[in-house]
Amino acid sequence: MSLLSTDVSHAAEALYAGGLVAIPTETVYGLAADASNPAAVERIFAIKGRPIGHPLIVHIANNGDLDTWADKPAPIARTLAELAWPGPLTLIVPRSSLVPDVVTGGRDTVGLRAPSHPVTRDLLLRTGLGIAAPSANRFGLVSPTTAAHVLADLGDYLDPRRDVILDGGPSTIGLESTIVDTTVEPPQLLRAGPLSEEQIGALAAASGPSRSSGMLESHYAPRCEVRLVDHLDDALALRSGTPGARILDLTGDLDTYARLLFTELRTADDEGVDVLIAVLPPAEGLGFAIRDRLEKAAAPRPR
Ligand code: TXA
Ligand code: MG
Repeated sequence: MSLLSTDVSHAAEALYAGGLVAIPTETVYGLAADASNPAAVERIFAIKGRPIGHPLIVHIANNGDLDTWADKPAPIARTLAELAWPGPLTLIVPRSSLVPDVVTGGRDTVGLRAPSHPVTRDLLLRTGLGIAAPSANRFGLVSPTTAAHVLADLGDYLDPRRDVILDGGPSTIGLESTIVDTTVEPPQLLRAGPLSEEQIGALAAASGPSRSSGMLESHYAPRCEVRLVDHLDDALALRSGTPGARILDLTGDLDTYARLLFTELRTADDEGVDVLIAVLPPAEGLGFAIRDRLEKAAAPRPR
């Protein structure tokens, strides 16, 4: 049996049976389990190599599901859900009693998101489940934006008799969702993402130590060294003195930069590039999220 499938009913059966399903979303692929099945959720941590205690996002179909999975969310949470769902925004809200401890690492809050990808919406609507899912990569590495990326990262760890990689084509956005904590006053931006602060409106920027593990310094890291520059001229100068270096510059179109960034990081590794010199986009709109991911890819790696 092959892990890859485009059959949503097959994926639904796998979830009901306690298996894992890699789901396509507009941001990145997720590794999903029935959120109300703690044993299935525990396997996500084992397969990702992710330390237990890192909270997972619960994916839901509709704004109405907010009241199923959250306990008295703040009015701002409803406003933001209406603004952005289905789409690339995760809201941290007080969790309802339906959310098992393993999903939130014992926190009294939960991250909720209604993804817009039609295949995963179909899966959510068909099953009626909340599905817990982190990005479908090994812990600390680059998030997957295609089913082939998931297969390359997790193929050896998933079980073709129980698990499915649901292929819904390449992710159209390519960066993980914006995360906003609505349990604090004022709401706090925990992770820069496709939905920019400007779009979210009058929100306070993140300040102080963040509680989101996406904020670990080194994250989204390829094997190659990543060096950051502000302009193409700087990249050209650096490359001329750096053997085995490649330049990444998609600053001409930030949607494309976001969509292809993780693929470019993976391709650099696959093609044996030693140093990837990335030109930073301007710090505006989607540029914030792209800069955030590039800075994490370039951060000193833990050994
Ligand atoms: O776009 C996305 O958000 C993708 C797709 C699959 O939905 N998911 C994703 O999940 O990026 P993950 O687990 O790789 O990143 C989620 C981040 C983690 O840094 C986690 O610590 C944070 O969200 N998070 C989840 N629940 C939280 C909570 N209750 N409080 C604070 N942070 C939370
Ligand atoms: Mg992740």
